[in-house]
Amino acid sequence: MAAGLKTYNLCAYLILSLTACSVMASSSSSQSIKGAYWPSWAKNFPPSSIETSFFTHIYYAFLIPNNVTFKFDIEYATEVELVNFTSTLHAKKPPVKTLFSIGGADEGPVFFGRMASSPSLRKNFVDSSIEVARKFGFDGIDLDWEFPQTPKDMENLAYLLDEWRLEVQKEAKISNQPPLLLTAAVYFSANFFLSGTYRSYPATSITKNLDWINVMNYDYHGSWDTSTTGAQAALFDSKTNISTSYGLGSWIKSGVPKSKLVMGLPLYGRTWKLKDPKSHAVGAPAIDVGPGDQGALTFAEIVKFNRDHKAKVEYDAESVSMYSVADTTWIGYDDTPSVTVKIGYALALRIRGYFFWAVNGDYKWKISKTASQLWRL
Ligand SMILES: *[C@@H]1O[C@H](CO)[C@@H](O)[C@H](O)[C@H]1NC(C)=O
Ligand SMILES: *[C@@H]1O[C@H](CO)[C@@H](O)[C@H](O)[C@H]1NC(C)=O
Ligand SMILES: *[C@@H]1O[C@H](CO)[C@@H](O)[C@H](O)[C@H]1NC(C)=O
Repeated sequence: MAAGLKTYNLCAYLILSLTACSVMASSSSSQSIKGAYWPSWAKNFPPSSIETSFFTHIYYAFLIPNNVTFKFDIEYATEVELVNFTSTLHAKKPPVKTLFSIGGADEGPVFFGRMASSPSLRKNFVDSSIEVARKFGFDGIDLDWEFPQTPKDMENLAYLLDEWRLEVQKEAKISNQPPLLLTAAVYFSANFFLSGTYRSYPATSITKNLDWINVMNYDYHGSWDTSTTGAQAALFDSKTNISTSYGLGSWIKSGVPKSKLVMGLPLYGRTWKLKDPKSHAVGAPAIDVGPGDQGALTFAEIVKFNRDHKAKVEYDAESVSMYSVADTTWIGYDDTPSVTVKIGYALALRIRGYFFWAVNGDYKWKISKTASQLWRL
């Protein structure tokens, strides 16, 4: 609100052309997004430790509704944590906006499908989510349904978003507060899925109802394919569609405006065990996953691993990714060289911003800081 007022005053008092004023007004109403998810199980990384100058929005991950009513039954300990999350981050200098994310990868696709297919369960879910957001002082709500499985799911998702937006607007009027933000974490591509039947996200409903979407531009390769190493968040792939450039392009083609697209960046990497340490390019033969939780390590853990094992570190310009090799361990990840190119790419595309999964993975804010300094809009 304050920013809009300032723009108005500037336009009124400075001699600026109409075009300059309208450009300023639109940039203040669609401020850049520098988001990050905070995993609530990261107990050694409390919200107070987040360096908020590198971010605009922090997401609490995750809340899960009751699997029968689809209302949120929140335990006392979680209530305390939610209040702490929003009040801590709003009091930080600078403050950041807070959203809570519903779902997550562990929840599975069927769970949300059941809710979205039932008008009464959708209503329970929508009403209860808005109540939770206001009760605990959140600025918005995020849906992380991984992933709608069928064209029917996609159709039901559209109904859900229509109803959610309607209730958010109604509630804002009644409470006389700014409407809650409504966002969703979505698959890297709008209509090209690596498994399952052909389906395509409801671009019209997304455009109409969501403030923006967080496009999950990672997990392209991993422990589910141990036969070759892979760049899990490749910007480019000349042989397949499994890349960030393809994914963002598919979202743009779907009709969702660029001002609603936010690029995902991983603060973690994925590991493999090489067949032969001498053959270690992106796509080299592998025989197993490497160290980490199902072959996943945070960026901070990778920095430590590379140091402890005196790993050889390479930048792969073709995929725009980093990898490190120590004996038979191969780790694909992002570091400042690849993130710099990706941010440049996203800026050139003129999308809205970027987000990280997850904020606790960084090493001394190295990547968060680089991205934030490069994204000066
Ligand atoms: C709901 O969750 C409970 C407790 O975890 C579980 O026992 C039950 O099977 C679930 N019901 C459905 C319909 O998924
Ligand atoms: C949040 O929790 C932390 C750690 O328990 C505590 O130090 C801090 O005072 C709490 N802050 C707020 C605003 O509740
Ligand atoms: C990539 O996606 C396009 C549609 O955008 C499709 O026609 C093509 O078959 C896909 N290529 C591969 C290798 O899957």
